[in-house]
Amino acid sequence: MSYTSVYSAWAADPEGWWMEQSRAIDWVTPPSRALFADKAPIYEWFSDGLVNTCWNAVDRHVAAGRGAQVAIIHDSPVTGTIHRITYAELQDRVARLAGALAARGITKGDRVIIYMPMIPEALEAMLACARIGAIHSVVFGGFAAAELATRIEDARPKAIIAASCGIEPNRVVHYKPLLDGAIDLAAHKPDFCVIFQREQEVARLVDGRDLDWHGFQYGVPPADCVPVEGNHPAYILYTSGTTGQPKGVVRHTGGHLVALHWSMKNIFGVDPGEVFWAASDVGWVVGHSYICYAPLIHGNTTIVFEGKPVGTPDAGTFWRVIQDHRVASFFTAPTAFRAIKRDDPEGKLVGDYDLSSLRALYLAGERADPDTILWAQDKLKVPVIDHWWQTETGWPIAANPAGLELLPVKLGSPSVAMPGYDVQVLDEGGHPVPRGTLGAIAVKLPLPPGTLPTLWNAEGRFRAAYLSHFPGYYETGDAGYMDEDGYLYIMARTDDVINVAGHRLSTGAMEEVLAGHPDVAECAVIGVADTLKGQSPVGFLCLNKGCNRPYPEIVAETVKLVREKIGPVADFKKAVVVERLPKTRSGKILRATMVKIADGETFKVPATIDDPAILDEIRAALRGIGYAGG
Ligand code: COA
Ligand code: AMP
Repeated sequence: MSYTSVYSAWAADPEGWWMEQSRAIDWVTPPSRALFADKAPIYEWFSDGLVNTCWNAVDRHVAAGRGAQVAIIHDSPVTGTIHRITYAELQDRVARLAGALAARGITKGDRVIIYMPMIPEALEAMLACARIGAIHSVVFGGFAAAELATRIEDARPKAIIAASCGIEPNRVVHYKPLLDGAIDLAAHKPDFCVIFQREQEVARLVDGRDLDWHGFQYGVPPADCVPVEGNHPAYILYTSGTTGQPKGVVRHTGGHLVALHWSMKNIFGVDPGEVFWAASDVGWVVGHSYICYAPLIHGNTTIVFEGKPVGTPDAGTFWRVIQDHRVASFFTAPTAFRAIKRDDPEGKLVGDYDLSSLRALYLAGERADPDTILWAQDKLKVPVIDHWWQTETGWPIAANPAGLELLPVKLGSPSVAMPGYDVQVLDEGGHPVPRGTLGAIAVKLPLPPGTLPTLWNAEGRFRAAYLSHFPGYYETGDAGYMDEDGYLYIMARTDDVINVAGHRLSTGAMEEVLAGHPDVAECAVIGVADTLKGQSPVGFLCLNKGCNRPYPEIVAETVKLVREKIGPVADFKKAVVVERLPKTRSGKILRATMVKIADGETFKVPATIDDPAILDEIRAALRGIGYAGG
């Protein structure tokens, strides 16, 4: 079927089209209709259906006689191990874990925070929550205790499931002290914690609070799948916004199942039984949607890869995994390819492996630069497909739907809108702009199934952040344009979110941390262009009057502070001390101008600037740390 015919069929009858797609899911009670618009502009999908995610991701495949198929492959170059778990084994493991959680009082609607590295137990914990209707919130391991504490405070979990440690190439990440620290910091305390002890590090358990993963499952009956409403929250995933308070993106159960299932064949081009690999982390939305849920819902084999694109042990790791597990469709971030290309520019290692199983490479998480795409196309000899989406949407807004029809690839574009998304480019007044003109990218409401219906306990913030600027639309926070053929080009964020190595970070959150340093009077953080990571954060510090401590000492302290408060993932390593920050006459810091100076781009001095001379000081400071032509 052609993309155009499918998109037109959706556009002609969106609700009928989604009802049709919903039939691929096993419902306990099918929904009476697709869209529930009574609270518009807050929309819900399939609200009155009854369904269970774990049943659809695990049990139904066993019931269909596919229990012996491998569901999860854990390939861990950092521990030198490979394990396979079949669907039948997964069903057994998840049912027992869910039973143990239920025996300790976890029921439908309770929140459970999961703080785990890339091990199958992370997926099992997610699925066990889904099995009993608990709402999980997975927190990425690269976040520090304070970030975990913020999430504990907001989600108010009854339980936390964690591992004793994670393994980075250069160190063991001690999860348990981070967890203990976070629980100390948070006013809300979980009833209990379940700790998966890894053999690389056995953590000390707190008496009366911490339970051993295996021990607490002993002798407990396994749990059955609990049917939940289509609009029951499946999970909360926190993502960076403009401030230090992360946004708790809510995902409803019914739409999540339907949209993810549709995407596997039509976008990612795989059939049930084939191996699909997304090299990301369960802590991010890519990990939720395309390491855990979508491949399992669709009956694929998924790979949990605990390693890096380079250094574990070399830039051929990805090719080894594709060869060894016969990966059909592979998804990663462009930054991973840039890292590989840096270590193996000619792609010599590609030739050492048999990549004949691979049909396509999918890139997302940040802009896919044409050089990276061309390099990947040349070395892998498969279509390289850029696609664009966000934590909020949970599945691609724009893609090249290779499973339906491979459209011509246009470099620099994630191709076209997927069915469900009426994407428009708007001017400041909310009017659609002509093709080829830059504007704010928005999606006409309602958003499709699988996307966020609201923010956790923060409907006001949801409306203010996404719905209020352009009434009738969802504001994506990205700017760009659409060409004559309907291809989208995503050029920049319109807010203070930056993208570092495919990780979404808030400069506002970093500024809040820097402002907490006793010598810092005022500060700004910007994202400057980085050839490996896409963007890299740089801090500007104005010190308190009379502060005469050596600058390098203060800079080092601020670097340490961001690592302690936000975590190593912030990758905040560079800051400079400046006398003043460039501002408008009304006092707004001109961050966009600072970015242009750092990146060596030409720019017009803003008419509203208070004192243009400051820009030279900023340029000199940036040159001092190797930017702006320094
Ligand atoms: N737990 C703890 N720490 C973590 C972590 C985790 N799960 N993930 C990253 N970190 C730490 C790293 O160890 C590093 O710490 P350091 O400052 O002590 O070296 C820091 O966070 C920054 O990590 P990262 O951004 O991964 O940079 P890197 O220089 O170690 O590696 C790449 C560079 C390109 C290889 C790596 O960023 C990468 O694989 N990127 C792809 C990311 C991705 O797949 N994103 C998908 C989102 S869709
Ligand atoms: P996250 O919520 O972490 O997935 O980050 C989403 C943001 O990453 C988007 O709003 C974009 O700014 C950026 N992004 C993701 N995919 C792409 C892409 N293919 N091209 C350009 N930007 C992207």
